[in-house]
Amino acid sequence: MATLRKRLAFFWSFLTLLPLVRPQVQLTPGQFEPAPYINAAWTNGTGASVSINTKDKALRNNTAPYLSGILFEDISHSGDGGIYAELVRNRAFQGSAENLIIPFAPTLEGWYPVGDARLSLDLLHPLSDALQVSLQVDIPLNATGEVGFHNDGFWGMAVTPQTYNASFFVQANGFRWNSTITHIDVSLRGNATGSDVFVSSTIDMASSYQPVAYQYRNYSVQLVNNVTAPTSNNSLYITMNAEELRGQTLYFDLISLFPETYKNRPNGLRKDLAENFKAGNFRFLRFPGGNNLEGYSIQRRWKWWQTTGPLMDRPGRPGDWTYYNTDGLGLLEYMYWCEDMDLVPVLGVYAGFSLDIATYDTGYTNANEWPVELMQHVLQEALDELEYLTGNTSTYWGAQRAAHGHVEPFDIPFVEIGNEDFFSYDYPARAAFMLNGLKAAYPNITYIYTTADLYATQPAKFNITLPKAVIWDDHVYAAASYFVESFDQFDNWQSYTYENNISASNDVYASLMEYHVSSIDNRTGDPTFDYALASVNHPRMLSAVAEAVYALGWERNPDTFKLSAFAPAIQNVNFYRNTPYLMLFSANPNDTVLSTGYYQEQMFNTYYGTQTLPFNITQGGFNPLFFAAQIDVAKEVVYLKVVNAGHTTQKLTVELDMEYGYVNGTILEPPVAGDLNAFNYFGNPTAVVPQAIDGLGAFGAQSVFSWQVPAYSVSVLEFSAGGDGGQTAERIDRGSKQLTTRQVAYILEEEL
Ligand code: AHR
Repeated sequence: MATLRKRLAFFWSFLTLLPLVRPQVQLTPGQFEPAPYINAAWTNGTGASVSINTKDKALRNNTAPYLSGILFEDISHSGDGGIYAELVRNRAFQGSAENLIIPFAPTLEGWYPVGDARLSLDLLHPLSDALQVSLQVDIPLNATGEVGFHNDGFWGMAVTPQTYNASFFVQANGFRWNSTITHIDVSLRGNATGSDVFVSSTIDMASSYQPVAYQYRNYSVQLVNNVTAPTSNNSLYITMNAEELRGQTLYFDLISLFPETYKNRPNGLRKDLAENFKAGNFRFLRFPGGNNLEGYSIQRRWKWWQTTGPLMDRPGRPGDWTYYNTDGLGLLEYMYWCEDMDLVPVLGVYAGFSLDIATYDTGYTNANEWPVELMQHVLQEALDELEYLTGNTSTYWGAQRAAHGHVEPFDIPFVEIGNEDFFSYDYPARAAFMLNGLKAAYPNITYIYTTADLYATQPAKFNITLPKAVIWDDHVYAAASYFVESFDQFDNWQSYTYENNISASNDVYASLMEYHVSSIDNRTGDPTFDYALASVNHPRMLSAVAEAVYALGWERNPDTFKLSAFAPAIQNVNFYRNTPYLMLFSANPNDTVLSTGYYQEQMFNTYYGTQTLPFNITQGGFNPLFFAAQIDVAKEVVYLKVVNAGHTTQKLTVELDMEYGYVNGTILEPPVAGDLNAFNYFGNPTAVVPQAIDGLGAFGAQSVFSWQVPAYSVSVLEFSAGGDGGQTAERIDRGSKQLTTRQVAYILEEEL
């Protein structure tokens, strides 16, 4: 099983090396493949009765403080053209997915001439050592009217009322330049006609700050916009007067346009997408990958030091997901993201393995791995990175960080050593080398290993003994039934692995730093790995139900299970390299789809207790009902998370040994009972959203509660003694509007 899962991930990683973009069809209900099943729960069931023990505090465990987080890497234009707010595509001509002659070499992708201007790429007037290519703009002798160029963004640019910041660098051609330009105009226009100007600003060049031939000069301007463009089919225009420029040549570079960003960070995050992440109540950010940490070659690995400092000093690189990364979203920006959303960083460090050659079971050895005996170099890169992040200003790299704008050192609680090194051969030696070197310098960090074969299903090379206190990161991309069947995977995990003498000792931990339901089940219950026929490209209720069952297994084993992250988190609908997603977006913020997976996670993250509560099942058992109980000690609220993975309604009876006056609850269920295919999609992004459970509320003081749990549903019940202390449904019903949980999160934030 594990072998198959890993082969799948391997296959997918390499599939993405192909230069083809598989068109993603936007499905609407009724267009899905054959109906899915959760075979693992295809049972008539008899419901369950559960008796929750709140009295015996010795039987509780503290919940894992950072259980649920985000894996972020630039995949499917989730960074450039996604959460990184830059609106201009190919702003510095670094490299492009469109160059078929030399893959990743620069092109004019995204750029178009205006009027009689002629555009080409220039290598002779680099802006900096990092940015070597510029846009050459030639104005013919007979040019008339408006000349210049425009950029149509990442499949469009939304234009909404706000202030935009535009900037660019310009240099004149010394041989030809004999002109004075009075102004450069910067505007946002519709593409349909090119003449719908939504907003425009003029840079007055009459002053002495004319372009010169010996260096670039930097120009910037604000666009204070009051209108909403009807579509996102718009462009940034930079234009001049042809009469002033006939026969002249100018070079432009680093042409940038930023809307207002999340928390107003310069060079920051796209506001609406960031707000969605914030509302999901995640607790950590793992970055910068995933495969994108590794590079297509050792030379093209994610070099952290090339992602910091002024943008003109960041060369970018061919990312692992078939397009060029600007690295505008660099190491410090990731840390600001953590700071601004109160997330704990989980820093992925390169550990000497890149994805370029298939070593997996091919007979190649070490072809894409750093030689073990030379690993000191790789270790030093990671040590420098940690000094950059955590060192005080008396250290070399700490001083660099301060110079880049963040004087205070950061706290780095988790470091992951590599990514998916089960494709490599030397990970046991490389990881041990990295761990020893990092631990000697940073003993308080918790380290994460990317592979280990605790169930002995892999070739011997994967049998790594996890060192003491290390967290094991498994990645699970599997069929829905696998998730349901794995509900109890982490029960007694420590002693199971220890007693079987496989590899873990009693003080190692587990995590799933990448997971999603990747395929529907077939009638036999075997996972299906045929992407064409059975893949779950758009998360459905099937995904949310199955992922929720597995997540209950993590929640109730906090002594063992520490961290989890759905992957990939976010996808641009115009360029996808892997599926499914928590968030699907386009240039137009109104299009954004939050998936059933997003809402399931948001519910579990929002209603998360501080301690687990023990319970007895007095009738029935797990499957198709699954549940786990927690208490928020400060709020004195008991949470019971309930998943019905079955196709019929199931009766749940809950007995509590404390008196309560309120039962409130939130449910994610198919709009049509039993429809496992229900999903959110472009045009109907709220088909499946969390709702308040009808008929709950004040209950008087009692200790037994019964409820018919709808088929294929995910819910959280809250029991409390009275008042509305943390009571969801009351807040949801407030103002008689049926608000979603996401909106509830905003309300809570406002009020606190
Ligand atoms: O989440 C997408 C990719 O899946 C990750 O980059 C990689 O680690 C895994 O194979």
